[in-house]
Amino acid sequence: MADLRGQTLGQYRVITQIGAGGMATVYKAYQPALDRTVAIKVLPEYLADQPGFIDRFKIEAQAIARLDHPHIVPIYDFGQAGQLAYLVMKYIPAGTLTDFLAGPFEPKRAASVVRQIAEALDHAHQQGVVHRDVKPSNVLMQDGKWAQLTDFGLAKILTSPSQLTASGASVGTPDYMSPEQARGEPVDARSDIYSLGVILYQMLTGDVPFHADSPTGVMLKHVLEPPPPPRKINPGISPATEQVILRALAKSPDERFARAVDLADALERSLDLDATRPATPVASPRAGRWLIAAVGLGVVIVAALIALLIGQSPSGTASVTGPREELFDDFGGPAIDAARWTYTGTFAAALDSSAVSIQNGRLVYQIQNTVDDYFDGGVRHDSSRPLQRVSARVTLLDATGNSDIGIQVNGIDGDPDSWAYIALAPSDGSVNAYVGNSRTQQQENFSLLLGTGMPATHELAIGWDGTRLIFYVDGKESESVATQTRGQWFQLLFDVDYPDGRLSGSFDDVRITYGD
Ligand SMILES: Nc1ncnc2c1ncn2[C@@H]1O[C@H](COP(=O)(O)OP(=O)(O)O)[C@@H](O)[C@H]1O
Ligand SMILES: [Mg+2]
Repeated sequence: MADLRGQTLGQYRVITQIGAGGMATVYKAYQPALDRTVAIKVLPEYLADQPGFIDRFKIEAQAIARLDHPHIVPIYDFGQAGQLAYLVMKYIPAGTLTDFLAGPFEPKRAASVVRQIAEALDHAHQQGVVHRDVKPSNVLMQDGKWAQLTDFGLAKILTSPSQLTASGASVGTPDYMSPEQARGEPVDARSDIYSLGVILYQMLTGDVPFHADSPTGVMLKHVLEPPPPPRKINPGISPATEQVILRALAKSPDERFARAVDLADALERSLDLDATRPATPVASPRAGRWLIAAVGLGVVIVAALIALLIGQSPSGTASVTGPREELFDDFGGPAIDAARWTYTGTFAAALDSSAVSIQNGRLVYQIQNTVDDYFDGGVRHDSSRPLQRVSARVTLLDATGNSDIGIQVNGIDGDPDSWAYIALAPSDGSVNAYVGNSRTQQQENFSLLLGTGMPATHELAIGWDGTRLIFYVDGKESESVATQTRGQWFQLLFDVDYPDGRLSGSFDDVRITYGD
């Protein structure tokens, strides 16, 4: 872009360039009519050429200009001079939060920054404005203390959807990008909360959670990988504060804080808590642990990416062993058949760890819980065909406490929140079944078989006979519950307790019988 120093844009005299980001250049300028210094953000020339851009820009600029908050940089004006579109805002003689991120923050100071940004975000969110690019360089820090958030909504104006998915580079750094944004899905306030969570992570650990060779690599990690536990990097962080950070960074927006100020509240509480007594993580109710699978186009894209990364084409055909029963054992190759299986739960984020592998035709889980919170997941299969019976040989090699491994059928009675789970439990390898609903939190438990210790192997199955859901152990009917309809999908699941829980086990000989 041409150097604009000494030139005039509308009524503004450009003095000097302050900085340049991925998409725009910021100048310090003088407005004679009001005898004041302003900051002018000049957008790339090609944008003004795009049909409709100026109109869209105007609509967005007006929405942003309505924001009036002590922690939001005020917008004064916007205009067009020749090929240049520009936004005029208050000049803040300050560095940005980036300048202060060389090492970990003192927790109280981090909490103060989070509080200020959270209040700014909350104000915008209440008015339906999502920031979309919350990152340290968009937080101006006057006197090193007073945080003011800038560039509200600009990412939306500057980035067309095609640019978003084509390359992370076009939207600046993906270091703070939420998983849903990385997948090119619609975003809401909770996406900003995730980004604020990344800033908090960085303030307290001294580094962002994910690094990769390319922007796409970082985006993929936001989608798939759990953040390295903050306490691993900075043991001075308390467990309670770690829980707050990890909740803000939950892959699923539903599991994050609902409002930005809730994050600030929880962070402050965790710090007060620390002063008085050791904090303990709050256990999630068991029934709430399931069904975290992300579905839809995003997962298709990510599954295809994963397939590319691991050199496996997402296709495969089942070998049919009977007219209605299919051997569903795709574990003969080096990786999961992405056309059939979707990773679910926390596990979806642990893909490139050693937590999952295919060994001798078995799907093997070897999980060490390092997140100090529930850790569950597995591989899920969806089918448009009605599910009559699912069976697998399930092996439990070693596990702690309440960890278990088994088959779960979801969506019973047409309710997507309902589930039935048959599982092997430590340390005796007994077989239990559970029927529950993650929404109503109801749960029924059945003891099916007393075990003789680990390792334990049983053929477990869940079937439906038209009126009842039936649990089978080693081919024999064991327990049943009345249901109206069969389940809709199933998962080969594990659940690892915490802290420091572990589980190793495997699945093979997976078979499905369809009801059609
Ligand atoms: N209102 C402002 N007052 C003073 N400096 C600003 C203002 N807005 C932005 N800047 C500076 O200009 C730099 C470039 O901003 P920008 O183009 O938004 O890129 P980025 O946000 O990626 O750093 C910022 O890092 C900041 O140092
Ligand atoms: Mg900026």
